[in-house]
Amino acid sequence: MRVDIDGGRLLRRLEDLAEVGAITGGRGERGSARLALTDADRDGRDLVVGWMRDLGLDVTVDVIGNVIAVMGPNCGHHSGRAPVLCGSHIDTVATGGRFDGNLGVLAGLEVIETVLSAGLELERPLGVAFFTDEEGARFAPDMLGSLVFAGGLTVEEAHDIRAADPGGPGPTVREELDRIGYLGPAPCPGAAPHAFVELHVEQGPVLERESERIGAVTGVQGISWTRVTLTGQSNHAGTTPMSMRRDPAAAMARIAVFVNDLAEEFGAPQVATVGRVEVHPNLVNVVPSRVTFTVDLRNTDDEVLRRAEAALAAELGRVADRHGVEVETEELARFAPVIFDEGVVDLVESAALERGLAVRRMPSGAGHDAQMLARMCPSGMVFVPSIGGISHNPAELTSDDDLVVGCQVLCDVMLDLVEGDS
Ligand code: GLV
Ligand code: MN
Ligand code: MN
Repeated sequence: MRVDIDGGRLLRRLEDLAEVGAITGGRGERGSARLALTDADRDGRDLVVGWMRDLGLDVTVDVIGNVIAVMGPNCGHHSGRAPVLCGSHIDTVATGGRFDGNLGVLAGLEVIETVLSAGLELERPLGVAFFTDEEGARFAPDMLGSLVFAGGLTVEEAHDIRAADPGGPGPTVREELDRIGYLGPAPCPGAAPHAFVELHVEQGPVLERESERIGAVTGVQGISWTRVTLTGQSNHAGTTPMSMRRDPAAAMARIAVFVNDLAEEFGAPQVATVGRVEVHPNLVNVVPSRVTFTVDLRNTDDEVLRRAEAALAAELGRVADRHGVEVETEELARFAPVIFDEGVVDLVESAALERGLAVRRMPSGAGHDAQMLARMCPSGMVFVPSIGGISHNPAELTSDDDLVVGCQVLCDVMLDLVEGDS
């Protein structure tokens, strides 16, 4: 079954959602900042839920704030069978682009609107979801909502996570869900969909470089996030001899260089990032007392990722000795690599080829909700190119044509998944 989506309608919704929490980059680029469970996230949610209701979908909000909208009796669907679900997230990092996550959700709405207006009779319903706190930028770990939906973390544990807000720990997930009106009644773990597909921008340079239009995503690399706190002795920057310092900033700098060198030495696909650094008291003439920073390590091979984690732990010990600082570590996120369902990957590839689009099988460098849904049902992803490979930056960009063909491939794959077992 094939039906053509309305690209203009998709692009208009992307524009409208991007205006919620709109920000401007250094060169005037237009991005969005909707950190999870903030007022801006609530406003984005309200807009999308309004669109879901306009289509007559059955909208469910669960206890972790995930929103799932499925074709039901109101839009003429009576099968009661598990839906073919798509979706992604609408929260962003503080320096977010317009497409990361949002594309997968709004393309899902577009697919459903297309199918409803064409009057197609389907054997099972389609649905579209947005999951809470995919970014993990405010509440770690990332993919929090889909993790809880898939049963990978209890609701109670998730509710107690505190926001990493500036100036110290902020409110809990539960408090913020309640405050913004998205502490829903539906239980988690949720009911398994029949299948799950997520359309997303690549957020990397491969498809553009290879002049390919569609990525048939084979899996997601493993992710390891650690928060490190180094505690030394705060003192006067002018009077304290170098030999008498216990300087956690010097120690942090050594670790930052170490993880960068480690990734270079291991070679691709190992990557390593020190992304957040907080120095106390953060003054020009004071040896700091404490530095807290994050290390993000990723690899498609879990064994190699474990070696990188072990190397980091050993180096933390050496550096702490050398600088006389105390080390505390906290695991913020740890997810093994995920391999997507071969059948779904094949469907993405064949749908793209059928539309005459050059397609590549490729792993994902970023984390995605689909990797959590893969625990519940056959799952996969569709990538479209990111211009310049830029993401988590207002400069994130995908051409209108690629946004539209990505949505078309999503539509084709969802209809194939409905038909596959009927
Ligand atoms: C989350 O989406 C990540 O990949 O960091
Ligand atoms: Mn994303
Ligand atoms: Mn992201």
